[in-house]
Amino acid sequence: MRTPRPDGHPGLADATRGRILFGGDYNPEQWPEETWQEDVRLMKEAGVNSVTLGVFAWAKLEPRPGAREFGWLDRVMALLHGNGVGVVLATPTSSPPPWLGRLHPDTLPRDQDGRTEWWGGRQHFSHSSAVYRRHAAAITEDLAARYGDHPALTMWHVNNEYCTYDWGDEAAGTFRRWLRDRYGTLDALNSAWGTAFWSQGYGDWAEVLPPRRAHYLNNPTQVLDFKRYTSDMLLECYVAERDIVRRYSPHVPVTTNFMPMWAGQDAWRWVQEEDVVSVDLYPDPRDPFGAQHGALVQDMTRSQARGPWMLMEQAAGPVNWRGVNHPKPPGLNRLWSFQAVARGADAVCYFQWRQSRQGAEKFHSGMLGHAGEQGRTYQEVSRLGAELDRVGGEISGRHSACEVAVLHDWHAWWAGSQDARPSREVDPAEVVRAWHRALWEAHIGTDFAHPEHDLSGYALVVVPQLYLLTDAAADNLVAYVRGGGTLVSGFLTGIADEEDRVRPGGMDVRLRELFGIRTLHEWWPLDPGEYAGCDGFRGTLWSEEIEAGDAVAHSRYQGGELDGLPAVLRRGRAWYVSTLPEPDALRELVADVAAAAGVRPVLDGLPAEVEAVRRGDLLFVLNHGRDPVTVAVPGTHRDLLGRRRVTDSLELGRYGVAVLSP
Ligand code: GAL
Repeated sequence: MRTPRPDGHPGLADATRGRILFGGDYNPEQWPEETWQEDVRLMKEAGVNSVTLGVFAWAKLEPRPGAREFGWLDRVMALLHGNGVGVVLATPTSSPPPWLGRLHPDTLPRDQDGRTEWWGGRQHFSHSSAVYRRHAAAITEDLAARYGDHPALTMWHVNNEYCTYDWGDEAAGTFRRWLRDRYGTLDALNSAWGTAFWSQGYGDWAEVLPPRRAHYLNNPTQVLDFKRYTSDMLLECYVAERDIVRRYSPHVPVTTNFMPMWAGQDAWRWVQEEDVVSVDLYPDPRDPFGAQHGALVQDMTRSQARGPWMLMEQAAGPVNWRGVNHPKPPGLNRLWSFQAVARGADAVCYFQWRQSRQGAEKFHSGMLGHAGEQGRTYQEVSRLGAELDRVGGEISGRHSACEVAVLHDWHAWWAGSQDARPSREVDPAEVVRAWHRALWEAHIGTDFAHPEHDLSGYALVVVPQLYLLTDAAADNLVAYVRGGGTLVSGFLTGIADEEDRVRPGGMDVRLRELFGIRTLHEWWPLDPGEYAGCDGFRGTLWSEEIEAGDAVAHSRYQGGELDGLPAVLRRGRAWYVSTLPEPDALRELVADVAAAAGVRPVLDGLPAEVEAVRRGDLLFVLNHGRDPVTVAVPGTHRDLLGRRRVTDSLELGRYGVAVLSP
């Protein structure tokens, strides 16, 4: 049954059909055909209903220029279909075959120093290469023509984790084209980039280059534009392939998988072009904040999708790319999978189905590891598959928005991460993480939003840091507070305009008025391990010499050069926090601000290691701890997983999960 989305394109529901998709990347080209039979048998036993095929299969599909070897894929598709396993079919364009690089070296990207990124790994393509794009379009077209109507096909997966940069000559040409579109004239570009500084004025477009290795600091707006351009070039590649597959299968949704909190793609822009938002998520099982990292990425992805989304990849056990790669202790794979489902995932998928025996990822776990079907990982995966199969129908498709939004913007992130800034210790992504963690630990559900989004539905908006703020965004924040919203902002917000020009007064005047700041005299960044004493807490990373206007000092600096000056200001419903309070203090502050905005935790009295998440009228309760806990859940509920009635109090074992329905 087709459920058209407002834009008329199909969506995730067309692929899930009321279930939760469960499965992973399947690379049958790495295995003899006898193994495929065993794969399908074990997939069925494990409850796998979806696999992603062909992500890195270009050389198998086109072993020589123009050749087409579809026979093996025909057989795999038929086998999967015959066994009730749907196929997310990938365009193989993220890893071109060696012949492409050999015959057309211009398809290979160049780094900042002009060095070539050769084949022999993966993702060795230049987004700007016309030859690459032509070959990528041709194989995509033939795949779509052949499989666009295939009954196994449920979704298209374009490329994989778009993440390449290119400083080469062809890229210089597309950079100029992009800049011409943005600025129109060289005068406008010179003005935007501030090229009066250091004799950088451009007199001819041919002089304009990607920000290649320079003797000393590159022009910051040039670097910012290069990041914008790179995201846009990769998006052009995506859209070109998406449009091809759409022509052959207009009823099949299209996605490309994001990396979590990946700096290279402006995800707010990208999701406008995607039918399904999907993400790959690999928290470290040893990371004490692994669950919070998961929550952050899931909150972000749900907000980008504005509804259910797809967990395209996770690891059933260890990855292979950390210094030390830890397995998941028993129960953790299930817990983190349900954490994603709680936050709106309608697909729980892995990289990859069967662990490789060769190649760079042979020590990366699979759903079916080297230990085989008796292995603990496969056994746990199978039990999870059975559970998702049983309860998926009652969960799939549900969505709820939160009362709180955290603002995040890629352009602000890019501009705020440049060289030669007041403190290299300030990493905008880490600041976002710190504020999200505070909300997470306060058990307050949160969405993410773009600073120019309509925020009027939110009771509280949190701005961890938006160094670059457009005029539209600044107006939006002011209007939001005027309209009755509560806003709390961290430091380094509203410093620069869209072209990274510092705002007069050192901070946008609209924000200074909003927060009741008369003068922002100086920033006093802190060294690692240095703290700014404040009444009631310690600040880290940063402090500021502020003269308040009509704001009230909620807390003040104590000691040091800033003694007695305001640290946290409040003007009505607008709060400004001029340092990064230590985690406990930030959590308390956020909880106070939320309470003032009328926002309550998802559940009261939750133990620290327990997380509660609402999805529609379901309440997910997750124990991230290793010890059993008792959680107060007022009222009577049905636990979909435990198949039990729960009244007022819920027992959860180590890594336990309950899905409570009214
Ligand atoms: C992802 C990628 C997969 C695999 C996985 C390993 O980034 O999409 O192909 O490499 O990482 O964790």
